Amino acid sequence: MVVDRKILTLDEFTIQQLRDFPQATGELSGLLRDIGLAAKRVNVEVNKAGLVDILGDTGNINVQGEEVKKLDEFANDQFVGVLRHGISCAGIASEELDDIVVFNDPVSNNSKYICMFDPLDGSANIDVNISIGTIFSIYRRVTEKGKPAELKDFLQPGNQQVAAGYIIYGSSTIFVYGTRRGVNGFTLDPSIGEYSLSHPDIKCPESGNIYSVNHGHFFRYPESVKKYIDVCQHKNNTNGGPYTQRYIGSMVADVHRNLLKGGIFMYPETTDKPNGKLRLLYECNPFAFIVEVAGGKATNGKERILDVQPTELHQRSPFFVGSKKMMEELEGFLNSKDAKA
Ligand code: AHG
Ligand code: MN
Ligand code: MN
Repeated sequence: MVVDRKILTLDEFTIQQLRDFPQATGELSGLLRDIGLAAKRVNVEVNKAGLVDILGDTGNINVQGEEVKKLDEFANDQFVGVLRHGISCAGIASEELDDIVVFNDPVSNNSKYICMFDPLDGSANIDVNISIGTIFSIYRRVTEKGKPAELKDFLQPGNQQVAAGYIIYGSSTIFVYGTRRGVNGFTLDPSIGEYSLSHPDIKCPESGNIYSVNHGHFFRYPESVKKYIDVCQHKNNTNGGPYTQRYIGSMVADVHRNLLKGGIFMYPETTDKPNGKLRLLYECNPFAFIVEVAGGKATNGKERILDVQPTELHQRSPFFVGSKKMMEELEGFLNSKDAKA
């Protein structure tokens, strides 16, 4: 009897994609496999976070001036370690590290990719059992292969991303990644320790009824954003009533939900933080890429996120991302004469 196996593992899927590109070297598949492995290790620690002495602050402050939880450091070490020992990555940048890390060994110097990541996003939620995640972004290096990677390999606009993705450590663990060919999601099957294709060819609904924003900062937002929030609270495309407000405080979980169900996520600038909070290179760009490939839109309020030329590794950016029609409605306010005045 021939068994028709419909479920593909992440490795099977990336290898199948390679078959369509005979010139491909398999380096990207290798890099995704390495990221998947590091994420499995993080997943195990996240799952037992309440049991072991890995909770709580380390007492250190990260390069952003924020408190670092122990699990952030653990996650960072896993990703750096796995990618350093792999053969597909010339260097990395991380939210947790001041500077880029160039692996600078003969094999890594010959790799064509660099990777940037937020090893643990939503880390304020670690000790209260709420979904947290990892975000990553992959670029082809612009410097010559064979030599160590350089900062300019990392300071590329998001439209140059080769792939981007995230892992949610939630009620189940899901690995979602996108290339220009599409976005696909894989759920970790703990019984075999493999990611299995569970969300093929994800498309972001054109519209939705969820808006996600931190209302606590409302009075510090620009007038244009306040006006849009007012619309969210009074009108709805589908049933004439207000949208539903959902904000977990883990962007990975908030944007994942909106990507699947339709919605908009906003982290605007505030009067006290004129560049917002989120980091362009390893928080905004990966999500902008994934959501755009899935049919949605992303902006910093002035221009398409993916077209911003970065100048610093850890630069912050206001961020608006989501369903196409909701984003267009928002842009109507952001681009109005009043907003530009
Ligand atoms: P991180 O844990 O990597 O510092 O990022 C947290 C981010 C993001 O996930 C979330 O949407 C946002 O910070 C929440 O910030 P507020 O508490 O200011 O809303
Ligand atoms: Mn983060
Ligand atoms: Mn983080």
